[in-house]
Amino acid sequence: MNWYENNNMHTNQKIINVTKTYLPDKEKYKQYIDEIYANNWVTNNGPLVQRLEKRLADYLGVKNIVLVANGTVALEIAYRTLGLKDFVITTPFSFVATTSSLVTNGLLPIFADINPHTFNIDPSKIEDSITKNTSAILGVHVFGNPCEVEKIEQIAKQNNLKVVYDAAHAFDVQYKEQSVLNYGNISTLSFHATKLFHTIEGGALIINDDDLVQKARYLINFGIENSESIPELGTNAKMNEFEAAMGLCVLDDMEQIQQKRKTILETYQTELRGLIQFQEQNDNAAQNYSYFPIVFKSEEQLKKVQKALNEQQIFPRRYFYPSLDTLSYIEPKQYCPSSRNIASRILCLPMYADLEENDLKLIIKIMKENI
Ligand SMILES: Cc1ncc(COP(=O)(O)O)c(C=O)c1O
Repeated sequence: MNWYENNNMHTNQKIINVTKTYLPDKEKYKQYIDEIYANNWVTNNGPLVQRLEKRLADYLGVKNIVLVANGTVALEIAYRTLGLKDFVITTPFSFVATTSSLVTNGLLPIFADINPHTFNIDPSKIEDSITKNTSAILGVHVFGNPCEVEKIEQIAKQNNLKVVYDAAHAFDVQYKEQSVLNYGNISTLSFHATKLFHTIEGGALIINDDDLVQKARYLINFGIENSESIPELGTNAKMNEFEAAMGLCVLDDMEQIQQKRKTILETYQTELRGLIQFQEQNDNAAQNYSYFPIVFKSEEQLKKVQKALNEQQIFPRRYFYPSLDTLSYIEPKQYCPSSRNIASRILCLPMYADLEENDLKLIIKIMKENI
């Protein structure tokens, strides 16, 4: 069964997917819609987008935030803001957009293999991959687990490279008492409906170099500065007011969302510890409870458990699979054994604020019976 069928079956049986969109109080959302109607301002850096930018900067503890239409375009704008060219060293273990956004912008992904315990890019492999054509390092804080940011910073300085973090999973992740988003030249976020914090579709750039903020703002708006000046080659990457309204509502509920997710994650951990491999967490970071990945002994074992869960209408995700060094459109061919190995054995279990206790118990029971 594919994703569409899975979500559109006409059946009375409840389906438990890997995640479920958090919908805030409808009346509160309606109040914002009334405001949008009263303003008659629906897009183009409207008042709600501006309000959400300010609130998110405060909430996350970052200096400069630019809201955009989605997390993929946030990556593309980051590359163009920093003027990346030629080769970019990145991880093969991520969502496909991390790599495809490089390719669609004329950049060649050079894969540095991952640490099989943290699932993040291995800094020693980055060093091995640098050539005179390398312009940047693109790391991903996989499942919200921070990369080895100091080591990456040091390698980048020594080799005069830019650093971008795809922080799509790292909303509100603290590293050494501050936001992990403050590392690198630019970090990007995804606010897709499946994410911990969302704006239906949406994303953001966290820009640590103050002098690049204006350029990014031009780039998301066709390169336009004002009615007489178009200094950059831009695109249309704007967030609209209805999306910002959703973000303002969801942001109010973050504490309660995180608390519920924390309880679910801790239950999974307590019940499954010793039976299955977990992601090794960065000691200096506080988790954001966005995902619960587990690694099986073998792909066969994964498939057995997946089948047993699917039979009860429970649909975990093989996230991330396949490893991105296997993508057919990447030339020259590359080979990252650790990433391929983890990708073949990893599954993300259902994880969302209103996952019911009985469903959680059922998932754990099926897991224990089949591993
Ligand atoms: C690691 C990562 N990068 C980029 C994206 C793309 O974000 P979006 O779906 O908002 O375009 C996603 C998720 O969807 C992701 O998980």
